[in-house]
Amino acid sequence: MGGHLPSHIAVIMDGNGRWAEGRGLPRTEGHRAGAEAVRRVITGCRAAGIRHVTLYAFSSENWGRPRKEIRHLFSLLKEFLGKEIPLMEGKGIALNVLGDTTALPPGARAAVTRGIRRTSGGKGMTLNLALNYGARAELVRAARSFVSEGASPGDVTEQSLAGRLDTAGQPDPDLLIRTGGECRLSNFLLYQCAYAELYFTPVLWPDFREEHLHAALEDYAARSRRFGRI
Ligand code: FPP
Repeated sequence: MGGHLPSHIAVIMDGNGRWAEGRGLPRTEGHRAGAEAVRRVITGCRAAGIRHVTLYAFSSENWGRPRKEIRHLFSLLKEFLGKEIPLMEGKGIALNVLGDTTALPPGARAAVTRGIRRTSGGKGMTLNLALNYGARAELVRAARSFVSEGASPGDVTEQSLAGRLDTAGQPDPDLLIRTGGECRLSNFLLYQCAYAELYFTPVLWPDFREEHLHAALEDYAARSRRFGRI
């Protein structure tokens, strides 16, 4: 891959359910296969030299899914963290979470907190998992923090607002990938993706492999980013 590499890739991992249904399997099997794709993509991004990766693992709207599916998703998350955190520690990958974790099931929340603590020294890459995340709710939390500090209008700047978002201190995503064929943002990183390059692929998330990541990176490398200038 050439020098034109995104610093930050964000991914909307869509298509687990359809992947499973296409095989006559329960949707939960699609999520399990999706967790394998998560492993592959983290490894691929690390090998490519991407410094920040953000994965939309559970949106604030996903609470509307059947209870069994929600339970399965959080139990997969715990299983994933149990296996991956020691490996991430070894590879210098720091875990970070975007979203309001106070509403997560206690076991999942504890696993996330432990994972963040154990990997906090990681300097190679930051893995952001968006859990109970919604961009509008994130902006509301940021606005509330200004109000609770008694900020005056002049205190509210693009920079100070960005510093109150869950991605504070990290660069904005350069590339947003959405799998599964839909072409929408689904309340994901709306502030941070102002200038992100968007890449939509019909590939269902559990089928997403390193070759698909490289195709997205090549597509990104060929784009000319002007940030509103000519
Ligand atoms: C969308 O597929 C995917 C999700 C709602 C959850 C993403 C979860 C994973 C990839 C697995 C677990 C994650 C980790 C970090 C271990 P969908 O169910 O909406 O698919 P559909 O559009 O085909 O129905």
